[in-house]
Amino acid sequence: MMHSITLINGDGIGPEISEAVVNIIEASGLKINWDLQTAGEAVIEKEGTPLPSRVIDSIRKNRVALKAPVTTPIGKGFRSVNVQLRKELDLYANLRPCKNLPSVKTRFDNVDIVVVRENTEDLYAGIERQVDADTAESIKIITRKATERICRFAFDYALKNGRSEVCVVTKANIMKVSDGLFLNTYREIAKEFPQIKQREILVDNLCMQLVQKPEQFDVLVLPNLYGDIVSDLCAGLIGGLGIAQGANIGEHCAVFEPVHGSAPDIKGQNKANPTALLLSAVEMLKYIGEQAYAVKIENALFAALKSGKCTVDLGGTLGTKEFADEIIKNLHQA
Ligand code: NAI
Repeated sequence: MMHSITLINGDGIGPEISEAVVNIIEASGLKINWDLQTAGEAVIEKEGTPLPSRVIDSIRKNRVALKAPVTTPIGKGFRSVNVQLRKELDLYANLRPCKNLPSVKTRFDNVDIVVVRENTEDLYAGIERQVDADTAESIKIITRKATERICRFAFDYALKNGRSEVCVVTKANIMKVSDGLFLNTYREIAKEFPQIKQREILVDNLCMQLVQKPEQFDVLVLPNLYGDIVSDLCAGLIGGLGIAQGANIGEHCAVFEPVHGSAPDIKGQNKANPTALLLSAVEMLKYIGEQAYAVKIENALFAALKSGKCTVDLGGTLGTKEFADEIIKNLHQA
């Protein structure tokens, strides 16, 4: 069966890294029918919005999308494409696997953490107001329904991916009601997964432990705000933006995308590192059941990294295209 997948090739470096990734997947032998949908700054002038409804319709139809970063113009009244996509498609789980890559030198060499962040509520529900000139307030929403589904997602992910522990991260000692509900709901859901170990930690302690002994953590499940911050911390542990992958997953659809933005400063210069988008695509292939191709591509990438044949941000000398060619060469030799 040929998979149909929506491809949003994005702004800035988006088209360059998308082309590299599409070529690599094609060279692996996996046939994909890419439904190319432009979005972001590139389409505003013509279509009046950075996220035309055809893009949403395409993802609804195909159920899976690979998305390069898009630019959301500041101060022009447009909502972030990413926030809008998450809302429209109810992509409630943000998934960020953070694992050391071969030859990418960092402070630690045994990080293998999966951050599962609740994507729809908490302080990011956007309910805030100016009470008076000197006071502002923001409301933190935690519901049992949203917490149940994110915790179940985290345990289910752990089970399906050979992970042994899901650790819940809160500040339930201070926010006894809201984070307390998150924690208690986690404990309830954990009972459905007796094969997976449970662990509870406060977010401040987690941050300290992560920068001292990150190897002790496996899968983390967090409310939206802590999840946002901790997932960037974990991306930093493995070498930063050029290699950090991500995914937004819902009941019916999933959008796989790198953590980094459209990097306008290096646009069109053949300098962008395609690794983060490629690893997002690898996770996408696992999601659609193409495990063997995912592993094959991952191995070809790792071989290129091990031989130091990579882009400048990772200490190599290659351009985007040449790095992709190196990975393709490794695929053909496999
Ligand atoms: P950025 O992530 O685009 O760039 C930060 C720095 O990292 C720059 O120096 C850039 O050259 C470098 N960098 C990023 N990705 C790289 C890669 N693959 N290879 C090599 N170097 C890389 O963040 P910035 O500058 O804050 O945002 C630029 C635009 O991206 C903004 O319009 C923002 O709204 C958008 N953005 C979009 C996201 C998305 O679509 N998911 C996420 C974050 C930002």
